Amino acid sequence: MDLHSGPASGEVWIRGRRLVLRPLLTAEEIDEEWQAMVAADPLAIGELPDEDSFRARLRRSGRLLDGWLDLAIDLNGVSIGRIQTFVPAGRALPTGTFDVGIGLREDMRGKGYGREALALLTDWLFGDAAAEAVEAPTDPANVAMRTVFERVGWAYVGSLTEFGRDWVMYRITREQWQARHGSLSSRPTRH
Ligand SMILES: CC(C)(COP(=O)(O)OP(=O)(O)OC[C@H]1O[C@@H](n2cnc3c(N)ncnc32)[C@H](O)[C@@H]1OP(=O)(O)O)[C@@H](O)C(=O)NCCC(=O)NCCS
Repeated sequence: MDLHSGPASGEVWIRGRRLVLRPLLTAEEIDEEWQAMVAADPLAIGELPDEDSFRARLRRSGRLLDGWLDLAIDLNGVSIGRIQTFVPAGRALPTGTFDVGIGLREDMRGKGYGREALALLTDWLFGDAAAEAVEAPTDPANVAMRTVFERVGWAYVGSLTEFGRDWVMYRITREQWQARHGSLSSRPTRH
């Protein structure tokens, strides 16, 4: 069943070199995301959400609402995972701070898509959603995620305990993003 008949106003579509971050478009894509949550390595998620609320949230995907935004990571018209902003339970975020999470299908990992998706969403949050800081916790043993944060210019800022375990926090501020953007766009062009 099609949940959307095409891009609607207010929907977030972010186009990159290889990927498009876009709303989840079908009930099948929502199903796949639920199955991915159920099968997820405990390293990758804090806790399994309530199924009905999770599905209801994904039916509203593609819209930034009260700090929440869910987007499919689309490669050539196929969703290969999901990237989101979220408000952590019990940790209120200051205005302008966004927490981010990402998960790719197993066979799509290690090909640079995580890096591209995170860079696209980071740019959009600063450029279009008035972000002052973008951050994310991850498991200390999640080397792929930690490497992606570093490649995209986020910095390790400390650790915290949540859901009864330790997490490392990575973060990038507007100032750091602007400095990086400036240095990227002022790079000499090679011919
Ligand atoms: C974490 C995740 C989003 C990263 O995306 P990805 O597309 O796999 O990552 P990329 O290919 O862009 O980059 C991964 C980098 O980490 C490195 N890496 C990957 N796995 C690694 C490992 N186990 N040990 C060391 N380095 C690793 C890669 O070499 C690459 O480095 P490079 O930039 O020098 O090439 C993805 O692997 C994923 O969905 N994992 C499962 C869900 C998850 O853990 N989500 C995060 C929850 S906080």
